[in-house]
Formats: sequence, structure tokens, C-alpha cells
Amino acid sequence: MNHIQLKNISKIYNANSTQAQSALTLLAEGMDSVAVKEQTGYSVGLYDVNLNIKAGELHCIMGLSGSGKSTLIRHLNRLIDPTSGEIWVNTTVNTKTHVKDNPQANTAPVDESSSNAINILELNDKQLQHYRQQTVSMVFQHFGLVPHMTVMQNVAYGLRVRKMSVSERHEIARYWLNEVGLTNSEYSYPDELSGGMQQRVGLARALATDNPILLMDEAFSALDPLIRAQLQDQLLALQDRLNKTIVFITHDIDEAVKVGQRISILNGGRLIQTGTPSDLRHNPADDYVEQFMSAKA
Ligand SMILES: Nc1ncnc2c1ncn2[C@@H]1O[C@H](COP(=O)(O)OP(=O)(O)OP(=O)(O)O)[C@@H](O)[C@H]1O
Ligand SMILES: [Mg+2]
Repeated sequence: MNHIQLKNISKIYNANSTQAQSALTLLAEGMDSVAVKEQTGYSVGLYDVNLNIKAGELHCIMGLSGSGKSTLIRHLNRLIDPTSGEIWVNTTVNTKTHVKDNPQANTAPVDESSSNAINILELNDKQLQHYRQQTVSMVFQHFGLVPHMTVMQNVAYGLRVRKMSVSERHEIARYWLNEVGLTNSEYSYPDELSGGMQQRVGLARALATDNPILLMDEAFSALDPLIRAQLQDQLLALQDRLNKTIVFITHDIDEAVKVGQRISILNGGRLIQTGTPSDLRHNPADDYVEQFMSAKA
């Protein structure tokens, strides 16, 4: 089942619709994003991206710097809106049943027949707020923790916003801190923790809301290789049980192959290929994909 569908998504930065149209026309003629920028002055974030992300998959988005990875992921929680295209999200996907012992676990079975996708670009402010609280969570590259809040308060923040009682949200925060391997740090402040520990807090915070979609933009890129490998393993172990839909951005092919069930490769704002690591290795769509796969350690 598709969880997220991007349909013909294009993003031209800092251009009104008429200005963007001139860039889109050049892109449609096959001009690359660097030449379009030179000719029109507008930056191409994405061009005509069609992508289906399945419910419960860990989907990596790969590409060189400036290829459009962050632009793509920011569309999924509507930090930015596209110049054109549609984004459909199935809001009936329920991942809460998969967590044994999770205090939030919902015992109601998933009703596949009521499957129902919404175009998130049509949400009004209130609906968007609800979507961000209930459907998508984000883990940031530089952790994004609130410095004057304790670890516990940071993790429980999304639940506080939902007006959950203190005792309940602290119980849930403690559960997820334990899940990411962080115990005894509840009352520490972020700057008292190492980078790896801070990102465990970031992960626990994203998981605590138990939203079905997890967005991770270079979430492990700031960490030392050993700590990074530990967090990759932890994410895979969690994903085995949680079955979240995870969109994981990285520019590191080794990381993508290790964690990604499928990988999408971007180049200059265009989606070049989506496939399993084996698809990309054995049937690369072009030289760019082939070079990535042959650079793998
Ligand atoms: N706010 C913005 N205003 C104008 N141009 C932007 C903006 N954000 C991104 N771009 C441009 O859009 C293109 C894609 O940028 P994006 O940040 O999505 O790439 P990325 O793949 O995430 O790169 P990196 O690996 O460096 O994070 C780049 O040419 C970039 O300069
Ligand atoms: Mg980026």
C-alpha cells in the first residue's frame, strides 16, 4: 500500500508562477538545473518528481549536495509548498498496533478497506496543524533540541502539545528513551550530552508522538562513524518492530544501502531512479547512479 505519493512535484525557488513557468519550460526541454539557473536566475529545487513511498518501508533519498533531497523531504511536512504537483498521504495508515508493550499501542485492527489518501496541499491551517501533530515527525541533522528543556521535557514536548497529562507523557517519554538506549539522562540538559546521545533524544522525541511517518534529513551525518553505525543499527532494530514509514535522507551511499529497503536517487532536482540496492547495482539507470553504486565501500 502506498503511504505517500508525490505526483509531478516541481519546486522553483523565489519565483512567482509566471517566472517559474519559464524555468519549467526549459526543464521540460531537457535543460539541466545549473543551466536553468544561469539563464533565468531561478534555483530549481525539484523537477517533475513522481514517487510512491510504501507504508512501512524505510526509503532513502540519495544524491549529491544541491540535488534536492531537503527540498523533497520538506514538502512532506509542508515546510515548503511546491510550484506545481500534488502530494497524497494516506492518513488511515496506523502503525501503533505493532508495538508490544507500547503504552500508546492501539488495539484496534487496521481497517484496510477505509484506506483514504488526502492531498496535503489542500489542508487548511487547522488541518495542517493536526497533520503535523498526528502524522509526521522529523529528526533533524543538528538535533534541534530545546536547550532550556531537560531530555524528558524535550521528548515529551509533542505530547504536551497534544495536552496529555504530565504523568502520562512522562511515562511515554521514559519508554522511548529506554527504547533508544538512553536511560538515566532524563533530567540532563541537551548540552550535557554527546552528539550521539543528543540524536538519540531527537529520535525518541520523534517516536514519542507515535506518528506513522518519520522524516530524517541527514539525521546521522553529524555523528562520528562508530556512533553513526550504532544509530543505524538501532534504527533498523526499531523499524523491525515499529513498521513506521521512514523517509531517510543521506548523501552517503554506504548508509543508504545499509538502511534503505528502497533508494531514490536525485540529480539536479530530477528523480533518476528508485529501486532496491540490488536494482540500482545491477540495473543503474545512468552513469550517475552507476558511479554512486561503484563508490560503495
Ligand atoms: N530557500 C532556498 N532558496 C533558494 N534556493 C534554494 C533554497 N533551498 C534550496 N535551494 C536550492 O535548491 C537546490 C536543492 O537544494 P536542497 O537543499 O534541496 O539540496 P540537498 O540535496 O538537500 O543538498 P545538501 O546535500 O547540501 O543538503 C539547490 O540548488 C539549492 O541551492
Ligand atoms: Mg539537504
